[in-house]
Amino acid sequence: MENIFDAHAHYDDKWFDEDRDSIISALPESGVVGVVSNATDLKTAEFLQGYAEKYPHIYFTAGFHPECLDDVPTDYLDKLERFLEHPKCVALGEIGLDYHWDTPRDLQKRIFEEQLILANKLNVPVIIHDREAHQDTMDYLKKYKPKGLVHCFSGSVEMLKEVLKLGMSISLGGVVTFKNARHSVECAEYVPMDRLMLETDAPYLSPVPFRGQRNDSRNIVYVAEKIGEIKGMTPQQVLDITTENARKFYGI
Ligand code: NI
Repeated sequence: MENIFDAHAHYDDKWFDEDRDSIISALPESGVVGVVSNATDLKTAEFLQGYAEKYPHIYFTAGFHPECLDDVPTDYLDKLERFLEHPKCVALGEIGLDYHWDTPRDLQKRIFEEQLILANKLNVPVIIHDREAHQDTMDYLKKYKPKGLVHCFSGSVEMLKEVLKLGMSISLGGVVTFKNARHSVECAEYVPMDRLMLETDAPYLSPVPFRGQRNDSRNIVYVAEKIGEIKGMTPQQVLDITTENARKFYGI
């Protein structure tokens, strides 16, 4: 298969420390035409910028993930703005709310809101992380209406309807292939093809038959197969449409 675009991955993760360059450089041979590797703080943004400069198919984002708020400098918004001036920094992300872990919620909300305001000021897309925080996440999205992608969408079809009403898109990954993935499959059925992108969230969330192992962008084909089954399309049709969507969304 060809024309694979991974709308959300983390190639800075230490799981790739031993062979990061050989994995990344081999992706185009397997049909991968683009990867957006998401930062979780300033350090990872800088690291990923280096890879984006080295490899034509790698793009990056800059932003503070809700689980990475221990050392947010007071001038972080200026620093994010500098990153977003880079031609291959294609979104502000990943940002959002995560109530699974115990980062203080008021801190998460403040940083999320400040980054949403920055994204709207700069007119750049945002990558949204929402884990067990659906209601609060939706409240902020409704308030700021960013150009956004809710990645690894884990909400219900009801929430999906609200996201779509705001003009936003979702990305789905390996979870849709899991046996217990009822929500994810229902959302894949419901989402219009022009609002869907495919992602890995690599190195996490490998699709079946590699569940639990390290994930990388080549495994998107398993997600495309599953979505194709659900939508009555060939996997290649799914790849072509979702790649086009990702290019449009990220302005690539
Ligand atoms: Ni992620």
